[in-house]
Formats: sequence, structure tokens, C-alpha cells
Amino acid sequence: MPAPVRTAVFPVAGRGTRFLPATKAVPKEMLPIVDKPLMQLAVEEAVQAGATRLVFITHSSKRAIEDHFDIDADLERALEEGGKTELLATLRGILPRDVSCVYIRQGEPLGLGHAVLCARPAVGDEPFFVHLPDDLIRAETGCLAQMAREFAGHGNSLIAVEDVPREKTSSYGIVAVDDELRMQKIVEKPAPADAPSTLAVVGRYLLTPRVFDKLETTGRGAGGEIQLTDAIADLLADETVRAYRFDGKRYDCGNKLGYVQANLDYALADPELAAGLQGVARS
Ligand code: UTP
Repeated sequence: MPAPVRTAVFPVAGRGTRFLPATKAVPKEMLPIVDKPLMQLAVEEAVQAGATRLVFITHSSKRAIEDHFDIDADLERALEEGGKTELLATLRGILPRDVSCVYIRQGEPLGLGHAVLCARPAVGDEPFFVHLPDDLIRAETGCLAQMAREFAGHGNSLIAVEDVPREKTSSYGIVAVDDELRMQKIVEKPAPADAPSTLAVVGRYLLTPRVFDKLETTGRGAGGEIQLTDAIADLLADETVRAYRFDGKRYDCGNKLGYVQANLDYALADPELAAGLQGVARS
């Protein structure tokens, strides 16, 4: 039986340029979906999957993330004195007490693969999750929990995938798989004509620690960045890696349309907000 997965890595050192000016002073990951930052939704998903150690690969412009998961004693006292017990409970529920956070600066934005490699000292020799918070997945059982369940059965690395229209392959890592979803090939951002399939990698991974050895030697790839995709391609020579088709709806919150759609869907799932929105639609 493979070891349980205890650590989740959140690479959040990118600058979020597609959301400027909103992300000039506010990290992209702190943009809210209705009333919860993307980063909190990501942490909730990891905790639901059993993670108790959260590793954030971060940048000096992302201090708000650290503050969000810290205790704000003054605010808690003010809410307590004001009798705002519900809000106080919400605030205290942001992070369960048995969960710890580690913050590691990436220093230079050399790419997602490099960001993951920065987590090596905190992860150690164990399997770990990688979660990209701007890929939001709405599902009854979170995507990482689904992957942890699958991993418990075979112990192979898992990469979450979904089908995309062929004209979009150049925005994703694209995989070729066999009948049992064992990965045969993975290519970063291929042109539609060169893509080996239309099965695209989304921002959830469950990786064995051997990927760190591969990342140590991965050179710069697409866009001049050290790509996680290239290290996974190297891993295929040594280990079985499987694609994982998750249950749930994904929103690409790194782009404006996906972000607005996520906000609408989450609002419509809240009965009070949904009633208000229907009123707006009628007026
Ligand atoms: P993106 O490609 O979405 O880049 O990175 P970005 O900088 O966040 O956003 P745009 O494109 O400028 O709007 C994918 C993920 O990898 C992380 C990002 O924070 C994001 O979660 N990343 C990327 C790093 O942590 N370090 C890097 O060097 C590059």
C-alpha cells in the first residue's frame, strides 16, 4: 500500500500578468470567488484530501497569502467583543489546527518546474500533491481527494486531465495515453497540428518524489522556462505515470472569462445570492 500523501505544494510565485491591474498589489490567488479567495478554496481541497503540510512557493509580492493563513488576534478579539460569533468561527475555520504552512521564496520566476523543485527540502522523500490555485475545480469530492483514492490503489504518479478543443492545445500540456490511461507521451503547449491528442493537463498532480531528480536536470523548455511537463516526460522512462480524468467542473481562473464564470456559478449555487441574481436578471 503506498504511503499516504501528507504534503501539498502550491506554486504561487507567478505574477498573474493577465489580471493586471487587479494583480498589481493583490496576488492573483487572493482574488475572491464570491467571498473566498482562490487560495483558500485550494487549501480546503488539499486538506479534504488529507494534506497536513502545505508548502507555498511564493514571491515578495504575495505576502497577503501568508497573512491570510495567519492568526489575526486583533480581528478575532474585535469580533468576539462585538458578539459576531459566526464570523469569528468562519475566521478560525480558515486553517485546521493540525495543518502547518511552509513558505519558500522562489527568488527568480524560472518556471513551474523550478517552483516545484524549490519545494524539495520541505517535501522530502514522499509522494506529494501539486495544486495550481487558478485552476478551480468544483466537485462534490475534491479533485485531490479523488486522486489520493486512486493513488492508494497503485502508487503511480497521477496527472489530472480533461479534453479541450483541438485549437486550444497550444495553451496546455497535452498527453497521449493507452487504454488504461497510462501516459505514453506528454508535450508542453503543442501547436494543434502537432498535438498527440486533445487530452490536456490541468493544475492537479500527485507525484512521486523521483520527479525532483528529473527536475534537477531539466533544462529550459517552452517559453524559456523550466517546465514541470518536461520533468514528467523524463519520469516516464523510469516509472508508470497515469492521467486522471476527474469528476467536476474546471474553471480557468487565470483568465477573465473563466474567473467571471466561476463567480457566477458559485453565486448561483448559494440560494440567497441566486434569488438576488434572478431579481437583477428580471430588472
Ligand atoms: P501561469 O502560467 O498561470 O503564470 O503559471 P502566472 O504568472 O501565474 O500568470 P500570467 O500568465 O502572468 O497571468 C502557472 C502556475 O505556476 C506558478 C504560477 O504562480 C501559477 O500558479 N509559477 C509559474 C510559479 O510559481 N513560478 C514560476 O516561475 C512560474
